[in-house]
Amino acid sequence: MSKVTVVGAGNVGATCANVLAFNEVADEVVMLDVKEGVSEGKAMDMMQTAQLLGFDTTLVGCTNDYAQTADSDVVVITSGIPRKPGMTREELIGVNAGIVKSVAENILKYSPNAILVVVSNPMDTMTYLSLKSLGLPKNRIIGMGGALDSSRFKYFLSQALGCNANEVEGFVIGGHGDTTMIPMTRFATYKGMPVANFLSEEKLKEVAAATMVGGATLTKLLGTSAWYAPGAAGAFVVESIIHNQKKMIPCSVFLEGEYGESDICIGVPVILGKNGIEEIVKLELNEEEKAAFAASAKAVHATNAALKEVGAL
Ligand SMILES: NC(=O)c1ccc[n+]([C@@H]2O[C@H](COP(=O)([O-])OP(=O)(O)OC[C@H]3O[C@@H](n4cnc5c(N)ncnc54)[C@H](O)[C@@H]3O)[C@@H](O)[C@H]2O)c1
Repeated sequence: MSKVTVVGAGNVGATCANVLAFNEVADEVVMLDVKEGVSEGKAMDMMQTAQLLGFDTTLVGCTNDYAQTADSDVVVITSGIPRKPGMTREELIGVNAGIVKSVAENILKYSPNAILVVVSNPMDTMTYLSLKSLGLPKNRIIGMGGALDSSRFKYFLSQALGCNANEVEGFVIGGHGDTTMIPMTRFATYKGMPVANFLSEEKLKEVAAATMVGGATLTKLLGTSAWYAPGAAGAFVVESIIHNQKKMIPCSVFLEGEYGESDICIGVPVILGKNGIEEIVKLELNEEEKAAFAASAKAVHATNAALKEVGAL
């Protein structure tokens, strides 16, 4: 019997729960929100698609009732405010730090062995806050950002190549911010061959730039931050853990010397399985990539420093 809780039944959380149920990733999916009745309503609505879509997962909604989340294997934290057009993810820190910390503490009272997947922004900093304040082993705290950014990277590559995104491989490392993420163009492939065989250097730079502002572009169009791909990316991460798939997915994880960084949660490729982070994959970065990663880490460290200013750490 596998159980996943999604905290925050807003755009991203509800989409994540929906994908988890549709793909039957877990036997039970619980949604919890502070807004009275919203989780219950969304769970009932989704349950009424079970027969239409043919899934057997049970969805449960609750308003702030952590007892219902008891014994969850994985908990996805999406609670918090999203950004509005023109805002950076980093500007959300003051409000979201308090929410993420209190939610994680409540979750662990009922699911002391759960693996936490942090989605709320600024995600690298919220992951770091969880790691520092909860005292859990580092394999059980995973920030979701790279799965989404990589999916966006593959989308923009596929658009440039004129192919289906499933024919493209690629990933993004570094911080989950408009200026901190690093699309790893050198490692990206189309039909198993380097994308540089098919696209000019200029085109590849355009693809990388579009990826980096991919979230901001959607925020401008939608008036709030996107949810279909973020929700699906959260479910993708959960699935690799619950089904012990051992997929390599870039996630924000605590580094202790890997990639030349310490005391930081930042995106690097990891193997995700039943223990959460099973392994941090060490890529051979070239000098340019190393410099980009160091600059990204510097920016994430600077955002983390704000946790002290808002009294969260
Ligand atoms: N990491 C990523 O890749 C990524 C991608 C997209 C969005 N996000 C972030 O995810 C978060 C959620 O985005 P959204 O678009 O779903 O926002 P949303 O406003 O639609 O949903 C957030 C939900 O959290 C709930 N909430 C607030 N405080 C809570 C608490 N203490 N306990 C339980 N629930 C609480 C709200 O009631 C709301 O329903 C934002 O911080 C956003 O920036 C991250």
